[in-house]
Amino acid sequence: MTHVARAIAHPNIALAKYWGKLDVATNLPAVPSLSLTLDGMSTTTAVAFDPALAADAVELNGAPASRADAARVSALLDRVRAAAGTGVRARVASENDFPTASGLASSASGFAALALAATRAAGLAWDAARVSDLARRSSASAARSIFGGWVVLPAGRQGEDFLAAEPLAPADHWDVALVVAVATEGPKETGSTGGMQHAARTSPYYAAWVEAAPAMFTRVRAALLARDLEALGTAAEHSALAMHACSLAADPATLYFQPVTLAALARVRELRRAGVGAWATIDAGPHVKVLCAGGDAARVAEAMCEVPGVLRTIEGRPGGAAVVEDLAP
Ligand code: PMV
Repeated sequence: MTHVARAIAHPNIALAKYWGKLDVATNLPAVPSLSLTLDGMSTTTAVAFDPALAADAVELNGAPASRADAARVSALLDRVRAAAGTGVRARVASENDFPTASGLASSASGFAALALAATRAAGLAWDAARVSDLARRSSASAARSIFGGWVVLPAGRQGEDFLAAEPLAPADHWDVALVVAVATEGPKETGSTGGMQHAARTSPYYAAWVEAAPAMFTRVRAALLARDLEALGTAAEHSALAMHACSLAADPATLYFQPVTLAALARVRELRRAGVGAWATIDAGPHVKVLCAGGDAARVAEAMCEVPGVLRTIEGRPGGAAVVEDLAP
């Protein structure tokens, strides 16, 4: 049995948003989502099961993890230990090459890499769907980062509490880019789980969102398969802003936007008026991510860099699946 493994996973950005859970315990999504896995950004996670450890030792970006982060990592490791029939604790070291926990999908690539490295290190010969289901239990968007290219995470369950993401089209299906306008390097104030649970409890628009989201997903999916960028961008912007509208109507409101977010949204509209195909999506953080044709990425990045408050841009291109390798103990 191998005891040490290292995995690399990429973040993904949803164009049809997941926002809302059937219930917190199973972490099954209430709505279907569709994302693009990106290259250009990655999380690398090494997991070493070590009988000498009294407890899991978790390091994130070179520093000991907070108690809350370490608990989420141990919850995933506990599932792996239960499946492998072992009680051995693990040393986990995870590094992101992009801002952590600020709505830049670090939990997606983080839990995808952790699920893959931990199952391999524990000697479990699981297929990608099973690893995706494991990652989903920690962060639903992480289920999608197991796969490359365009990926669907359906709503509900496929088996008894089982739900895995499914690859829809490979990375080379379409030459598009997602230009991330980085607004802050710091952590967001309200995490996605807290944000969606608060919306479910208090937003009068939550039920409307859950009812409307499947049609938005269907529109995004059809536009993607038809390689119709204007239809995809329009549908993706609608999904993202409807998700934020749901949380803005919560009591009190969850506001992920900062002034730079609105300035960036305005810039995207200006680009469209100037004839550049550019559409925005926003997750549980202040960054605006701009969908455009691959050939327009440099021009879009330049325009977004000029927006006051944008620190820098990252040009995300369609990226590959998460990968894992065994390491010598
Ligand atoms: O996977 P979580 O629990 O971090 O939630 C992700 C939620 C959004 O990023 C806002 C939307 C999505 O589908 O990725």
